[in-house]
Amino acid sequence: MAIQLLCNDVYSIGSRDWDRRLFDELIPLPDGTSYNAYLIKGSEKTALIDAVDPNKKNELINNLKQLNIQNLDYVISNHAEQDHSGAIPDVLKLYPYSKVVTNSKCKEFLIDHLLIEENRFITIEDGESISLGNKTLEFYLTPWVHWPETMVTYLKENKILFSCDFFGSHLATSDLFVKDEYKVISDAKRYYAEIMMPFRTQIVKNIQKIEELNFNYIAPSHGPVYDKPQIIIDAYKDWISDRTNNTVIIPYISMHGSTEYMANYLTDSLISKGIAVKLFNLSKTDLGELAMSIVDATTLLLGTSTVLVGPHPAAFYATALVNALKPKLKFISVFGSYGWGGKTIEMIQANLNRLNVQIIPPVQIKGHPRKEDLDLLEKLAVQVYEKHKALNLL
Ligand code: FEO
Repeated sequence: MAIQLLCNDVYSIGSRDWDRRLFDELIPLPDGTSYNAYLIKGSEKTALIDAVDPNKKNELINNLKQLNIQNLDYVISNHAEQDHSGAIPDVLKLYPYSKVVTNSKCKEFLIDHLLIEENRFITIEDGESISLGNKTLEFYLTPWVHWPETMVTYLKENKILFSCDFFGSHLATSDLFVKDEYKVISDAKRYYAEIMMPFRTQIVKNIQKIEELNFNYIAPSHGPVYDKPQIIIDAYKDWISDRTNNTVIIPYISMHGSTEYMANYLTDSLISKGIAVKLFNLSKTDLGELAMSIVDATTLLLGTSTVLVGPHPAAFYATALVNALKPKLKFISVFGSYGWGGKTIEMIQANLNRLNVQIIPPVQIKGHPRKEDLDLLEKLAVQVYEKHKALNLL
């Protein structure tokens, strides 16, 4: 990645991964991603904030050489996950006197995952700082954005918050700063849905903590830098709030068309009642889109055929994902068609045990929907309508 100047003596020197399409072998990345690393030259010392994914280590090393960095005093590690830390061992090899500055938990993780020697660390506590001469780096522990060891680094004189995963977006772009706000906030929402949403409660506390700092920029380690940081702070406050909107999400999978017929019936019925619906065919959908949709939806109605004795594996996988992401959904129900029996409903409900939701009685039918089955679906749609109305959503 080309070296870009963020402000005086602060450079962005990480890497863009335009082609990456999957993260953690799980999360779709339609717009690629970046691994941002920042170099800060103080009057006396030089620090690197985070590194890059091991696949991109040569880009980082080349950028350090291009800037003619003879002595790198500190490598600040805000987060031990390898997309930010994987190149640290190579940087330490290049600069044998350089020290990794991080908190004790992150140090433990870096030793475990990257086998970095213990004598290469300086361990800091929450609120501690180090001086680079005319610049000061302050460290604040912000656990669970994304792992338990995550922290942020604040460059006091330039008012920059280096937030690592926190506020990031999986977006490879040549823009150093946010230009297309709609696009970046949309990608940041997808990122929040896939990575941050399970930690909503901890994020509330971490936002309160960082808001005490006076920053003009948020420089995350994925995606562009926010030079109007309030846009992402406000977006996060909305996503982590208890507020949900008048939307029903209907992910479904249908083997022979009966469950699809039910999904379409519910969709039409809910729309006619003034409720927004997002329908996802699980045989085709990008699960990242589904994750994004449940950031602020009120209700999820899952449709599944029965395969042998239980739900279709695609539905089971989708519910496992929803259960892991812990969205602020308020109501869930299940519907679908079976051939001769099974335990579909019980298995789906058991797979949603982490969610604090009210279950609306499911609708399971045999074969293709008949008139009396559509009456049951209509009853389900009316219940959803009444629940949304009770929450003043319509
Ligand atoms: Fe971007 Fe949790 O790593």
